[in-house]
Amino acid sequence: MRNSKFIEKLKCDRNLSDDEFKVLLESDAFDEYLYRAADEKRRNIYGDEVYIRGLIEFTNYCHNNCYYCGIRRDNKKVERYRLTQEEILSCCEEGHRLGFRTFVLQGGKDFYYTDTLLCDIISEIRERFSDCAITLSVGEKSKESYRNFFNAGATRYLLRHETTNAEHYQRLHPYSMSLDNRKRCLYNLKEIGYQVGSGFMVGSPYQRTEFLIEDLRFLQELEPDMIGIGPYITHTDTPFASFENGSMLLTLRLISVLRLMFPYALIPSTTALGTIHPQGRELGLKAGANVIMPNLTPVDVRNLYSLYENKICTGEEAAQCRGCLEQRVKSAGYRIVTSIGNKIKESK
Ligand code: 5AD
Ligand code: FES
Repeated sequence: MRNSKFIEKLKCDRNLSDDEFKVLLESDAFDEYLYRAADEKRRNIYGDEVYIRGLIEFTNYCHNNCYYCGIRRDNKKVERYRLTQEEILSCCEEGHRLGFRTFVLQGGKDFYYTDTLLCDIISEIRERFSDCAITLSVGEKSKESYRNFFNAGATRYLLRHETTNAEHYQRLHPYSMSLDNRKRCLYNLKEIGYQVGSGFMVGSPYQRTEFLIEDLRFLQELEPDMIGIGPYITHTDTPFASFENGSMLLTLRLISVLRLMFPYALIPSTTALGTIHPQGRELGLKAGANVIMPNLTPVDVRNLYSLYENKICTGEEAAQCRGCLEQRVKSAGYRIVTSIGNKIKESK
């Protein structure tokens, strides 16, 4: 009984005290109530709809050196690739044919793609696929660059904050990177008018429950439109090779907490979740997630975008993946819809 009262409070207030969050996050006693409450909330607002975003990983060159990431600069074992403008456009072509109406261009920090080149790519996609939205995920840039991309036609941006605890941030990233700059970027993106997605890894090295609560508090302040979380998954060719993977159960718990705190948010059931458990993405949906981001990257380079090991869907063509997902989403009790729309603005 005590359990359900706790969840009722989160449902009504969209908030708990730090102490209450700590109890909730550290215990599995609430999980069933949590999933049920989150699913109920999601169904009230979004019904059984699941939105799909076509992910195009267009470069795995990366100037950054984040300790957790498999495509970090110092990993000399990765074979690097870049997609040409034409290759990116043909990914969109195929995606459009398969019903995708949002394309997510994601890449490492790669200076080859100047603002001019990226803006060219963005405006070409805009022109050829005028019924589609373009999401960018290319890391920290100047406000001016963000404005250029926005003016070229990108309206959404994904940039996970990774952790809001400054010390923890520094343990995950080299000194050239800072939490302040990451936060500044997120606020710049919002100011320009992007729909912003942020988020963090669950179970990253040195993470503690207190830090996760700080992450929740930061998200309350930022009010992003999308919140992406996934378990940390270790990669042998990084300094964090000896750390363990994050927990699926904690990730699911956090998805439900996020759904109750941010009822209107777009919450993806991530590839990382599908990687640590064969049913991970289905469970993510049942815990309150409502977005899936299948891969449209050409199969011949897809396994090279190895942020972490054993990533799923690296061998399947876009069409196979799309078909597989249709089944998976259906089996979980939901339905893929292809509209670009969302209910974000109604919540404001
Ligand atoms: N495990 C899980 N997620 C990772 N990411 C990067 N490396 C890993 C890893 N080893 C996530 C980060 C990044 C997103 C693109 O992928 O959160 O923001
Ligand atoms: Fe990609 Fe199943 S979703 S192969």
